[in-house]
This record gives sequence, C-alpha cells and structure tokens, in this order.
Amino acid sequence: MILPIFLYGQPVLRKETEEVPADYPDLRVLIDDMFETLTVAEGCGLAAPQVGKSLRLFVVDGTELKEEYPECDGFKQPFINPEILEESEEKIAYSEGCLSLPGISENVIRPKSVLVRYQDINGEEHEEWLEGFRSRIFQHEYDHIEGNVFTDRISPIRRQFVKGKLMNIAKGRTIPKYKFKKNV
Ligand code: NI
Repeated sequence: MILPIFLYGQPVLRKETEEVPADYPDLRVLIDDMFETLTVAEGCGLAAPQVGKSLRLFVVDGTELKEEYPECDGFKQPFINPEILEESEEKIAYSEGCLSLPGISENVIRPKSVLVRYQDINGEEHEEWLEGFRSRIFQHEYDHIEGNVFTDRISPIRRQFVKGKLMNIAKGRTIPKYKFKKNV
C-alpha cells in the first residue's frame, strides 16, 4: 500500500521517536509499504516519521544510483533501531534532497563514513562501516528519526535562501508528484 508522505511543517517530523519493539504488530507490512511508497516517489530513503510513525525505523534503496555511486549497488534494506557508533573525522559535502521537502536540494557536510549498528527484519543485530553514498543516505535518514531534516544542517545563509521554499511547503503551496498528507 502506498502511504502518504508527511511534508515539512508536520509536527511528526520533529517528534521524538520510539524504539521498534520486537513484537511490533505487522512490522513487515509497514516496511513493505514504506518500500512501495519510496519506489513510487522515486526516493532513495524513507524514515518512519515521514509516513506519520514515530518509530526508530527507516528504509533505503540506493540501487538506482549505482551508476553514479557504485557502492550503492545492492543497498536496499530496512534499518530497525539504528545507531551511529562512530563517525570518520573526514567530512564530505553532497547535495541532498528529501521527499518531505520537495523542490529543495542543498549541499550538506557530514562525516564521510559511519560505523552503524541496527537490527534487520529478523531481529538480527549488525554492525558495519558504511562508506560513500551509503553512509550519506543512512545519515540523512538517521536525522529523520532524531527529529531533524537536512536543511537544519545547511549554512545560515543558505537557510535564509530556502526559507521561502520551506514556508511554501509548510503552508501547503508546494504540491509534490507523489501521494502526500496535506499540511493545511
Ligand atoms: Ni529525507
């Protein structure tokens, strides 16, 4: 089922999220729905708050980006109760966009690689270093479950520049191509 995507201005994007309990009902259905929603919207990541759920869960699908970022080949999976354990000192800028912030893309500087821990759909715990654009997608989605969006991380000057666009989204004046939850 395709879920409506919650846009900038919806309180759920800023709300504190809860750990996904092992017995969360219909977790597989939610994850399948999130993948379907992500694919139809042509994004590379979608976090639970973006579909109105205050949970520490996101899905990624970087497979369409493998031409540009070979490390994204096969990078399609859910991350349940993810954590960032370590960050590389080296930082890198990439242009980011977000399904909750349609029409905005800005350079964001973040650690180049991250050591992460998470559970898979079977409850198995994994720990691994993510590199390149894998690391970037993970960090962007991780922001969502911490109540942040990528424009929180851009320079004050750039933030000033996108202020009007953010306002338009929050006021319901920006209509994305995909199914979304109306702001007003
Ligand atoms: Ni996003």
